[in-house]
Amino acid sequence: METMPTSAAALAPPLASHPPCSDSAWSAFQHINRSRRAVRHFDAAPLPDADVEAVLREALLAPSSNNSQPYVIHWLRDPAVLHAAAAACRNQRAARSASALLVFVAAPRFARDTLALFRDSLDSSPELSPQSRAYHCKQCKAAATFLRLAPSFLWTPLYLLLTALFPSLTLLPLGPQGIRNWAARNALFAAQTALLAASARGLDSCPMEGFNPRKLARLLGLQRGDVIALVLALGRRNPDARLEPRWRRPFSTAIQIS
Ligand SMILES: Cc1cc2nc3c(=O)[nH]c(=O)nc-3n(C[C@H](O)[C@H](O)[C@H](O)COP(=O)(O)O)c2cc1C
Repeated sequence: METMPTSAAALAPPLASHPPCSDSAWSAFQHINRSRRAVRHFDAAPLPDADVEAVLREALLAPSSNNSQPYVIHWLRDPAVLHAAAAACRNQRAARSASALLVFVAAPRFARDTLALFRDSLDSSPELSPQSRAYHCKQCKAAATFLRLAPSFLWTPLYLLLTALFPSLTLLPLGPQGIRNWAARNALFAAQTALLAASARGLDSCPMEGFNPRKLARLLGLQRGDVIALVLALGRRNPDARLEPRWRRPFSTAIQIS
């Protein structure tokens, strides 16, 4: 009797080996990573839509828990909307001078949307074997159960007790707060990917958590339960922009090898 594989990897076609690391790929990555700075003074000139769209398309390739992608990214480019959003970002100069703002909004409802879209895609993917389809349908059912039960308020007393006793359980995706944290955590992978993509595209950026969530949520017409994980300012640096020399904790302090 055929048994159900225990992971999607068992069903997928064999993966070609990772392209070998070339000196040029590594130096390109270092260049992109090291050129990314938190720039707080942009020239405010409009950016070509193609550049922002390219950055967003790379951001959408970020990993997420069970590929749930529990977020949407609001792309603000209209001058009036940008102006209002900058006010909600405490009028920080990075927000005031940005050419575009990306707002990463997370919530379990987006994971439910992902699930519905993925389920539809299973029906319209002729290349999937019946075995693969059955496997993914089963996984979808498990994910749907998780997304139905995990946000319940009923977990809250248990969650509070458990995390008081064992603080390391704080990030458990249980209860309304736990599941919102989980969604926001996933959104931040997309935000980080966008930061590096912007750098690779020759754009400057500034990640911002200094915003008024209620004001911004009202401006964007967000639903109750949506959380804003991060706002990202995009643009090209103003010639007068100032950058402090970069400082990081020493490797020996930040990296613990065992
Ligand atoms: C989660 C997060 C929130 C941040 N919030 C702000 C912010 O509200 N305003 C700001 O000017 N910079 C903000 N920053 C930028 C940091 O200050 C900056 O990344 C840090 O000083 C290191 O500098 P670098 O990015 O140029 O290497 C934030 C960065 C992160 C990751």
